[in-house]
Amino acid sequence: MSDETYDLVVVGGGPGGYTAAIRAAQLGMKTACVEKRGALGGTCLNVGCIPSKALLQSSELFEEAGHSFESRGITVGTPKLNLKKMMEQKDTTVTGLTQGIEFLFKKNKVTYIKGAGVLQGNGRVEVTGDEPQTLKAKNILIATGSDVMPLPNVEIDEKLIVSSTGGLELGKVPKKLVVIGAGVIGLELGTVWRRLGAEVTVVEFLDRILPGTDNDVAKNTQRILRKQGINFMLGKKVTGAKTTKTSVTLTMEPAKGGDEETLKADVVLVAIGRRPYTKGLGLEDLGIETDRAGRIVVDENFKSSVDGIYAVGDVIEGPMLAHKAEDEGVVCVEKLAGQKPHINYNTIPGVIYTWPEIATVGKTEEQLKEAGVEYNIGKVPFMANSRARANGFTDGFVKILADKKSDKVLGVHIIGPDAGTIIHECVLAMEFGASSEDIARTCHAHPTLSEAVKEAALAVAGRTINS
Ligand code: FAD
Ligand code: NAI
Repeated sequence: MSDETYDLVVVGGGPGGYTAAIRAAQLGMKTACVEKRGALGGTCLNVGCIPSKALLQSSELFEEAGHSFESRGITVGTPKLNLKKMMEQKDTTVTGLTQGIEFLFKKNKVTYIKGAGVLQGNGRVEVTGDEPQTLKAKNILIATGSDVMPLPNVEIDEKLIVSSTGGLELGKVPKKLVVIGAGVIGLELGTVWRRLGAEVTVVEFLDRILPGTDNDVAKNTQRILRKQGINFMLGKKVTGAKTTKTSVTLTMEPAKGGDEETLKADVVLVAIGRRPYTKGLGLEDLGIETDRAGRIVVDENFKSSVDGIYAVGDVIEGPMLAHKAEDEGVVCVEKLAGQKPHINYNTIPGVIYTWPEIATVGKTEEQLKEAGVEYNIGKVPFMANSRARANGFTDGFVKILADKKSDKVLGVHIIGPDAGTIIHECVLAMEFGASSEDIARTCHAHPTLSEAVKEAALAVAGRTINS
């Protein structure tokens, strides 16, 4: 064991861990980050957010070139797919970004240690792998993230039955792709492969898609995606899978009970959620408390049940989102440094990068009803937005929910072109406790998609101009 004592050892180099490590070093802490993947950036950069967005963008361009150009007077002929090149572009993007974090570590003087960290108690972290060593630390931050939730009797082989990781690396476009789970991953990767030519069927246990998302948004999303050619089988429970060399036959039954049916596919994508990843960390030996879902229980300072050990990101409660993990990492170490930062869980946006995109922040209508909160709704379709019309993408709407008495914005739900970008003025408005009138009286440039937000804010008071 080296004599060196770190102020902070971070276990896990994903968005939660690497961001916390950089911020801690900036605040003067001697910091090391242990990562076992062989690359920094975690799930998000290596097998999540970034590769999926590269493929979403490429497949969207392919789709547009094939279907949207002609109507605008541009003839390019039938586009041909070079999947290998598309994958190379994705891989180069990932490598560039993960190496960029190594550069940021050097710049900020964070020590990057390659290997798997095991907590040993008394501020010690044993690192196994290529650089075995034991680190001493005043504080330890667990940011080990999450991994794929398995489905009983449907064994993932990453070839015919894939998780999101295999689903980002298919060597050829499957003729028939069955996606199990109509959640975020299922819809994002389902749309990628549909655009590239697969026949896609999404099988969902519940009788709706995107559970937790505003009902109105979920229903519209399903309608729009169906129009794009995605098939949905709702209320179905997958009970097993039989594979041959080239195909998979799924067995399923109605979730509410009934006769078994089968569904054949070339590839099956299992996307039924993710679970916290704490394997081999040594939590039990140290008596670190976890909840029923296996998440590390933390207090408002992100401290676990053991002094000196903290946790952030997917491994604790809350939405499994990169920006949530990042913000928690920063807040955790700023608190360690004696600062007084805050994190507002009610204003963490969620974006689903289908086309059109879906972006939400704050409460859904269902949540407000359940809480007995009275609210006004301002809702306008993108059809009434001049920029959306000029761009030729008019599906979707902006919906603002504001408190009936105070007019304070309680939630915003957008489905539409670039929803993930335009939601941010609403996030900021909510962070500052704005009313819908505040948004309505803010000058918005013309012609922009963001004008739909202003129009929806005007709609809350029933005084729209353009719709
Ligand atoms: P992770 O990113 O999972 O990082 C944890 C790291 O810890 C891993 O690299 C792991 O190797 C390492 N580790 C684990 N155990 C040890 C150990 N004992 N020793 C050393 N290292 C260890 N979120 C978004 O906000 N936007 C998106 O567009 C988005 N797209 C996604 C697409 C897909 C396909 C997937 C799967 C996820 C996506 N997510 C997205 C979710 C996002 O990736 C996660 O919320 C985010 O990565 C969580 O960050 P984290 O730091 O908590 O954990
Ligand atoms: P999810 O929780 O979003 O969706 C899982 C879906 O599977 C749900 O609709 C659920 O009802 C369904 N399901 C569960 N068990 C089932 C079964 N046995 N049969 C059929 N359906 C079943 O999980 P997903 O899509 O795997 O994503 C995991 C996490 O990754 C999400 O929590 C999300 O936060 C994050 N993510 C975020 C992205 C983004 O921000 N754009 C993109 C991709 C992932």
